[in-house]
Formats: sequence, structure tokens, C-alpha cells
Amino acid sequence: MEPPPSLVLANVQLPEGRRADITIRDGRVVHAGAGGVADQRIDCTGLFVLPAAVDVHVHMRGGIQSAKEDWKTGSASALAGGVTVVVDQPNTVPPLTTPDAFLARVREAQEHSSCSFAINSGVTPDTPVGAMWAAGAMAFGEIFFAPSSYGEALDTAELSRALGRIRALGGLATIHAEGIAPGEDTGLAVHDALRSPERERDAVIAVQAGNPDGCRLHFCHMSTAAAVEVAHGTVEVTPHHLFLSREKISDTDCRFKVNPPIRSENERKKLRAQWNRIDIVASDHAPHTTEEKALPFPRAPSGMPGVETMVPLLMADVLDRKITLPDLIRKTATVPAALIGIPPSGFAPGDRADFALYPRSAVTVEPDILHSKCGWTPFEGHRAIFPKLVILGGTVVYREGEFFRAHPTWYPGKGYIPPSDQRVVPDLVRSQHETLKSPHNR
Ligand code: DOR
Repeated sequence: MEPPPSLVLANVQLPEGRRADITIRDGRVVHAGAGGVADQRIDCTGLFVLPAAVDVHVHMRGGIQSAKEDWKTGSASALAGGVTVVVDQPNTVPPLTTPDAFLARVREAQEHSSCSFAINSGVTPDTPVGAMWAAGAMAFGEIFFAPSSYGEALDTAELSRALGRIRALGGLATIHAEGIAPGEDTGLAVHDALRSPERERDAVIAVQAGNPDGCRLHFCHMSTAAAVEVAHGTVEVTPHHLFLSREKISDTDCRFKVNPPIRSENERKKLRAQWNRIDIVASDHAPHTTEEKALPFPRAPSGMPGVETMVPLLMADVLDRKITLPDLIRKTATVPAALIGIPPSGFAPGDRADFALYPRSAVTVEPDILHSKCGWTPFEGHRAIFPKLVILGGTVVYREGEFFRAHPTWYPGKGYIPPSDQRVVPDLVRSQHETLKSPHNR
């Protein structure tokens, strides 16, 4: 006889309004209706039950950048914010531009992460993208079309060549589209002017013009309505561009230095008005230490933490009826999972049983309720609703400040060839590698 299901989430109010018990077995939803006997039963009366979020843009740091964040603290921060899958960005030190560096990164995450993860490949003119694809890269990028912290930019010709190669593999290119005017960034207003909204829009146009073969494009952290309007790929925005504007911040406060910059209140409102065109909200979680953020403005690194506050800030907007719950679920869970091609989390039989349970009242964000190693947040004082309980693969991994043993999954991309099979198909991997290294292809 089959053993009983592992978990029943009882009295769940589904986003479309119906009430149901959600029965879970082996990490998947098996039934939505009346729940029977199970090893564990959680009454969800009075709670918002959400499919857990997939954050497609995080910088988990680790390695020699572990003072900022590491997989242990970063993944705890993700889980405590209702995020069970993160996509790690490759501008690590060293960058993820060789299969060996990539596989070392996978091992580091497998050892220390308590949330599920995918890892992207970096892209330089020399990156063997075919070998990175075979090693398990989920996507390519963020590809820098303007330099940023720990990111060197490709020029138009280099980018165009890289997009042609990624297209040939059937991969997804994720783009950091910005343009920079010369000058010293002495404060937030100057930073905004140097990396202006017009330059962001022009960068999107230039990237698209350099993509004649039609590589699938995803535009990361778009900060202006004008750029969103001209984008033909999927559009990602961050909570910091949705919730923060520079007039409300001291001009020299380096904590708010980020690329693309925090814009004016007028730009923020125009971006918000694009809500229906925005496909994905992702955090661009990019922690730096308070010491680094205390440096003089031109020398301080760009970036801010955000994986733990992303869904909670949006949940406060749901409570205030500024956005709808189905929209929030679409932009933080359903569409991100579809973009990277992993099973959706949700309430239907077969869905991945990753959930976050939220109370119906907001609290004020304070740094000491958060779990990122960097120890600060740009959203101090904002209203947010944090999850009481988070489920990963059908198992409770977080409950009211306490973490429990998790069994996270590594999601390799579509080109993954397991190491054992690479010996069987070495010619494929080698030929991709060598074609891409040939000087004629630079
Ligand atoms: O502000 C940023 N910081 N933007 C990026 O694109 C990179 C990030 C980082 O890694 O610190």
C-alpha cells in the first residue's frame, strides 16, 4: 500500500477564490480538493498561501566575496523572504566564464545553499559558451552592455557575436542594458544623469539592433518606462526601482548607489504605470558591506540587498490593493519559472510543492529582522508582509524565524550534459569549445 502523503495544506484560499486542501507527496502537489490523512497537516485559515517565488537575478557572492554574502546566509535570506529558487549571476570573483569555474560554483552552492538554485554563465569574447552550456549554465548573463560592479562590458560587435553563438545553442541571453556618459559620479543625482534614462533606452535599441539572428533576450532590472516600451524581450524590474526614488534619499548616501541608478520620483511613477508590461519582478540582490558603502561616493560599489524583501514589499501592495495577488504570483513565480524552464510551483496536481504562507498584516522593515550577511537594507521603514512559513519540495524549511533541514535542487539549463555522458559525446563539447576559441570567431 502507498504510504500517506507527506503534507496537507488545509483550508487554502486559492488565488481565484475557491477553498481547497492541497495534498503533497514526493515534493509535488497530488490533489487539490478535500485532503485526507497525511504525515503533517498545516491549517492555512486566515493566511495568504502563495506559490514560492523564483528570483531570477541574485548575486550570492561567496568565495573571496564572502564578507558581503555567502550561499548559507544568502539562501537563508531567500527562504525567509518566500523565495525557494534563485538564479545566481556569474560576475563572481573569479567570474564564471570557464567550465571549471562554473562547476566549482555549482559545488559551492550544493554544499552550502538551503534554497534551490540555477547558475548562469558569464559572457566575454573568450567564453566557450558551448562548453558552459554543456556544463549546465541556466542562461547567459547578465551580459554587461555597460560596465558595473564586477562586470566588464562587451562592445556592440562583441555582443552581437556572442548573441549569435547563444542563439545557435538555443540559449537565453540576459542583458544589463545601460549607457554611460563620461564623468565622476559624485552623488545619486549625478549617477542618474550619467547613466541616464535615455541611455538605458538607447542601449536596449542597440542590443536589439545587434541581434539579427533573433537570440532570445531577457532585459534585466529595467529602470525606466521608456526602456520598457522599446524592449522586445522579456522585461524584468526590481523592487528598488518600483519603491525608491532619489529625491527621498540623501544624495550622497552610497547605500542607494546601484546600476541602473535609483531614478526620480517622476520616473518611478512612470515605471509603475508599465506594470502590465512587466513580465518579472526580480531582486538584483547585490549585497556589499557597510564598510564598502561608507566609501566616498565615486569609490563605493553599486548594488543593494533585496532577495528577502522583494515579495514582502509587494505583499504590502496587495494588502493595500495597489496590485492584485494573481499578478504578484505571475510576476514572481509563474513567469520566472517558465522563463528558465523549471516546473511551476502552484496548486495543480503535478506542480512543484514550494509555497510561502503570509499573514494578513504588515510590519515595518528593520535590518535586524533580515538574514543577509551584509546587515543592512535600503527598505528600512517600508511596510512589508514576511512569510510565517515556507515549504520547499513539500518540506517545511522555515517557520517564524527558525530554519529546518532543506533538500534543495540544482536546476541545470537545457544544454546540460552530465559529466559521465560528456565522455560519450566528447566531440560535441570539444567542437563547440574549439569553434568558439578560434580567432576567426572573435
Ligand atoms: O548595482 C549593481 N550591482 N548592478 C549590477 O549589475 C551588478 C551588481 C553587483 O554585482 O554588485
